[in-house]
Amino acid sequence: MAKKGILKRISGPVVEVKDLDNAKLYDVVKVGDEGLIGEIIKIVGNISVVQVYEDTTGLKPGEPVVSTGEPLSVELGPGILKNIYDGIQRPLKDIEAKSGFYIKRGVDVPALPRDIKWEFTAKVKAGDRVKVGDVLGEVPETDLITHKVLSPHEGKIENIKSGKYTVDDSIGNISTGGKKKPLFLYQKWFVRTPRPYSEKFPPIIPLITGQRVVDTFFPISKGGTAAIPGPFGSGKTVTQQSLAKYSDTEIVVYIGCGERGNEMTEVLTEFPHLTDEKTGKPLMERTVLIANTSNMPVAAREASIYTGITIAEYYRDMGYNVALMADSTSRWAEALREIGGRLEEMPGEEGYPAYLARKLAEFYERSGRIRTMGTDERFGSISIIGAVSPPGGDISEPVSQNTLRVTKVFLALDASLAQRRHFPAINWLKSYSLYKESLDEWLRTNVSTEFPSLRDKAMELLQKEAELQEIVQLVGPDALPDKEQAILLVTKMLREDFLQQNAYSDVDAKASFEKQNLMLKCIMTFHEKAMFAVDAGVQLKRIQEAACIPKIGRMKEIREEELSKIKEIMKEIDVEFTALAKK
Ligand SMILES: Nc1ncnc2c1ncn2[C@@H]1O[C@H](COP(=O)(O)OP(=O)(O)O)[C@@H](O)[C@H]1O
Ligand SMILES: [Mg+2]
Repeated sequence: MAKKGILKRISGPVVEVKDLDNAKLYDVVKVGDEGLIGEIIKIVGNISVVQVYEDTTGLKPGEPVVSTGEPLSVELGPGILKNIYDGIQRPLKDIEAKSGFYIKRGVDVPALPRDIKWEFTAKVKAGDRVKVGDVLGEVPETDLITHKVLSPHEGKIENIKSGKYTVDDSIGNISTGGKKKPLFLYQKWFVRTPRPYSEKFPPIIPLITGQRVVDTFFPISKGGTAAIPGPFGSGKTVTQQSLAKYSDTEIVVYIGCGERGNEMTEVLTEFPHLTDEKTGKPLMERTVLIANTSNMPVAAREASIYTGITIAEYYRDMGYNVALMADSTSRWAEALREIGGRLEEMPGEEGYPAYLARKLAEFYERSGRIRTMGTDERFGSISIIGAVSPPGGDISEPVSQNTLRVTKVFLALDASLAQRRHFPAINWLKSYSLYKESLDEWLRTNVSTEFPSLRDKAMELLQKEAELQEIVQLVGPDALPDKEQAILLVTKMLREDFLQQNAYSDVDAKASFEKQNLMLKCIMTFHEKAMFAVDAGVQLKRIQEAACIPKIGRMKEIREEELSKIKEIMKEIDVEFTALAKK
């Protein structure tokens, strides 16, 4: 038996261990008499520094520590979906059941349920040669998702059989590297190592989110990255939930790092009630939640984003599109800071460790649309959307800045918009998407050839509005020429009838690209006609009182099945302005 290391020093979640046998960086260790789970994060001479994922209160110097000899890993197999895990993939329900509401320490609970018998259908047979990542067979994991069992080895299938299995039952055997190894419905991956793939693709397909301000103005690509910074109450969580619900992805991985204790509880109670919009079934059927409540130790919070992204990679490798939401990465960075502080490292900006930027970059780099490993052509993607909550909403701080350096879309949530009840409170003048150009071709082909130019024109108007507003504030609207007042009429439409989208309305919560295009076209048709009318000498008042204006205002509540109604409004605009010009 391996010699036990001896606990020397305890500093919150960080402990020092002397003479730990077989100490390797990032290996998982069991700390103290209770066997608390920890990870080696630094080795100096015969001292191993360990971050502990559980509360270390009561731990005493002299207690034993043993290494498991393996890095931090997750169990990947059927039973992940619908589950709610803590940062190191312990099912919250099971730890609660074992230890009561206050999670006791050292409880060993398996990540995947051991009692469920899954219906496995083999897709390979004895004698077949397989590569790592090839599909061995399928399991209906939930009502919405078929789980693909992927081969962890390259080799020749010795035997494999369809049937009912628990994750502990062997489904067959494989000869690999001259050895015969059993196959299971699950495998283990290390969380800190990105999963390899065959090929990564450029961002030329959009993640269709159904959110107009995103899809039209600040699009995210499939496999892209976006940051949502915003102060408390500006709509980060609601925006992420809308993206989770309506994006055209099959799998949702939601990592909650609670801003406040009760907020995570809200997510935990709310999420199970969200419904999948296409099927009406619970969204949880295709979701896994990773929850860090504020009473959980910081080290588990640090690990949670790796646990989440590794699970995302696993479903991506099955050929699914995955949306990963992290809310909020600021809380994760604070965990880094706290642990860094205990290591007595030289702190960087605002006390965050110097490696904050690298860690953030490494995390977002695990996104992308890829061709998976393995023999047959399979494509999958991970899109990462990270909320950031800078103190006081000031994004000049390190977490926001380092996040914006690596993410390609910036959705700037704005407290003053939220106060004015402009939702989603995404500031259209401050936000940006670096995917816009690379997605334009897809938009021209799949939405409409004129869509990108309509969008650009609309954005120009919104920028113009900001300039005009400054003048209006000084001298009042009537001082503006008619044409500019007409522009303000149009930009009000763009803001209220297009950008604003009610997450709680059955119809408006989601808009297809077709609907977005028609709505935009309608408003821009009004713009064109109004400009023409002003030039032709039509009184401004008549334009402002046009009968089509309130109809444009109700466009967003038009159902997807009745989009021809928007075309009718466009015709009415035409007719009305023709009549005005004649007068
Ligand atoms: N798209 C939206 N539609 C309607 N209301 C919204 C929307 N986004 C945010 N809100 C309102 O703002 C409140 C705060 O949003 P929330 O996402 O919890 O903020 P944050 O996570 O940034 O603290 C919500 O409870 C809701 O009332
Ligand atoms: Mg929130």
